[in-house]
Amino acid sequence: MGFSFKTLLSLFPLVWVMLMQETSGSRHYYNVSNNIKGRKQAQNGCNLFQGKWVLDLSSYPFYNSSQCPFIDSEFDCLKYGRPDKQFLQYSWKPDSCNLPRFDGVNFLGKWKGKKIMFVGDSLSLNMWESLACMVQASVPNSKTTYVRKDPLSFVIFEDYGVTLYMYRTPYLVDIVRETVGAVLNLGSINGGNAWKGMDLLIFNTWHWWTHKGQSQAWDYIRDGSELYEDMDRLVAFNKGLTTWANWVDNNVDPNITKVFFQGISPTHYE
Ligand SMILES: *[C@@H]1O[C@H](CO)[C@@H](O)[C@H](O)[C@H]1NC(C)=O
Ligand SMILES: *[C@@H]1O[C@H](CO)[C@@H](O)[C@H](O)[C@H]1NC(C)=O
Ligand SMILES: *[C@@H]1O[C@H](CO)[C@@H](O)[C@H](O)[C@H]1NC(C)=O
Repeated sequence: MGFSFKTLLSLFPLVWVMLMQETSGSRHYYNVSNNIKGRKQAQNGCNLFQGKWVLDLSSYPFYNSSQCPFIDSEFDCLKYGRPDKQFLQYSWKPDSCNLPRFDGVNFLGKWKGKKIMFVGDSLSLNMWESLACMVQASVPNSKTTYVRKDPLSFVIFEDYGVTLYMYRTPYLVDIVRETVGAVLNLGSINGGNAWKGMDLLIFNTWHWWTHKGQSQAWDYIRDGSELYEDMDRLVAFNKGLTTWANWVDNNVDPNITKVFFQGISPTHYE
């Protein structure tokens, strides 16, 4: 294998760190730093991960959320009266090249017969819904099969044989029911059985690791044979991600499957 996710992880715990800075008024800048050494994510010399969000009023939005069957109410800001719409019109602009406008028909053609899966928390869920809406808006009459079920949901674009999956697992590692209660098991990743055989896997996890009190999703943490009421959350995160990285190294054939990991995300409570 050309590179190891485990090695990579030990060098850079957060592979891609997305930083959000709020500047004057309502303008937001997102910087993406790409810390992958020895494996440049480049296309024609362009680092796709170094850039910023820019307003693109002519191309966006790609879909009308009222007409998308895949979007959850709680992510449909316009439905609940958010007055501004400009936030729907940001486009990612790499510093050293221009990306072509998203083209759903082209996308479906290129991914014909393939399986794409988002794995993670509600950030991944947002992205899965948004991608499904973007694709659907470009082929509104294409037959789809839509199954919404926790933890595994999917949309199949039948005419193209393209399946977009969402596997919801906020920590990537398992929460296991034990006699003491709900246990976050840092070494267990049985959820991974559902991630095999994909052509593209996009993972994310972070903000749930920090939750305490009522929004903490477990009663105990298990690290091997040890059971803890709590532990340093960054240490827990590191151990959980090491389990994840080992899973990738042992279960993913990099000749077949592309793997992305997204680091820290902003939350979306309001
Ligand atoms: C991040 O964005 C800010 C605001 O545009 C810019 O000043 C800064 O140079 C950027 N940092 C990087 C690493 O690109
Ligand atoms: C979005 O769709 C809804 C329902 O079909 C429609 O009433 C509304 O005008 C559309 N909005 C835009 C901006 O096209
Ligand atoms: C991936 O493909 C290369 C070149 O064909 C081959 O040498 C390598 O063994 C393959 N790796 C795996 C994990 O199958």
